[in-house]
Amino acid sequence: MSTNPLLQVEDLSVSFHTRMGKVAVLDQVNLDIGKGETLAVVGESGSGKSVSAFAALGILDAAGCVDHGRVLFEGRNLLTLPKAELRSLRGKDLAMIFQNPRTALNPIRTAGQQIEDVLACHADLPRRALKEAAIEQLAQVKITDPARRYHAYPFEMSGGMCQRVMIAVALACKPRLLIADEPTTGLDVTTQMVIMDLIKELAQAQGMATWLITHDLGLAADYADRIAVMHAGQVLETAPGRVIFKAARHPYTRRLLGATPRKQGSLEDLVPIPGSLPDLRQPQPPCRFSQRCDRCIDACNTTALTLQNIGVNHQLACRNPL
Ligand SMILES: Nc1ncnc2c1ncn2[C@@H]1O[C@H](COP(=O)(O)OP(=O)(O)OP(=O)(O)O)[C@@H](O)[C@H]1O
Ligand SMILES: [Mg+2]
Repeated sequence: MSTNPLLQVEDLSVSFHTRMGKVAVLDQVNLDIGKGETLAVVGESGSGKSVSAFAALGILDAAGCVDHGRVLFEGRNLLTLPKAELRSLRGKDLAMIFQNPRTALNPIRTAGQQIEDVLACHADLPRRALKEAAIEQLAQVKITDPARRYHAYPFEMSGGMCQRVMIAVALACKPRLLIADEPTTGLDVTTQMVIMDLIKELAQAQGMATWLITHDLGLAADYADRIAVMHAGQVLETAPGRVIFKAARHPYTRRLLGATPRKQGSLEDLVPIPGSLPDLRQPQPPCRFSQRCDRCIDACNTTALTLQNIGVNHQLACRNPL
């Protein structure tokens, strides 16, 4: 756990109302991010990484509902904050880079206009200074010829370029916390590294905390101070990257590591994680990994699951750890 928390997600449970009934997607999620810290949340597709972030920012879609929990940003509960106050925090102190920049950017506004929109809402700048500030912001994310790109629409830009514009929009007001949801999906490996280095560099320069969402444990280890492992809407283990790689205690974390390509390993060494994510429309046992776990004991299906401190910065939710 961070000693100087900026954001604390406490026992967050979220469900969606669907035609098939209520789906309990998040089950008592606990996460915390310190000032200036980078926390990576990892897990298979569908494990609740994005929903956690959407719920924290109050941008769940209409079918989603927070059933329980608190999200404290510097002690203030974002979930009960008046809408106007939350809106003014979003974009200014809290910013998000979405999973797909092409759909997250406004297709009928230029790159420059989209940055200006954020600055006009949240920064105390005179109108005539907005354009210059937007161009400066484009330069900061290392877009070449920013004065020309200011006029470009998303469809005129490459994926990497759109990603940079989205980072420029998100960072325009120097947020205290950036949520970066799969910020490099769909980009080639070289561009991935450039984008991640850029986020890291800007985070360090501005003392900004980062909530990085990724399914890539290798990327998480390279860029995050700590890693939180999620499975089917539950946080199962949290620790610094080196502890996750060398001394993970949760069977799921070990499985995830076994399925992650290593720099020196071969593809044949990879072992797929058995089974698939449980069907959350059905009632779930306390540990939602238990049906896929070869270390499952009775307690996993009968006793409530809680995330407990088991070492410095190391938390675990498991009844029969390694
Ligand atoms: N609007 C919705 N209605 C119903 N279920 C939803 C909705 N949005 C998300 N879910 C469900 O919530 C669960 C978590 O989804 P989420 O998008 O958070 O996963 P994720 O970990 O971000 O996955 P990915 O790596 O694919 O982005 C999934 O089972 C998903 O089907
Ligand atoms: Mg997602």
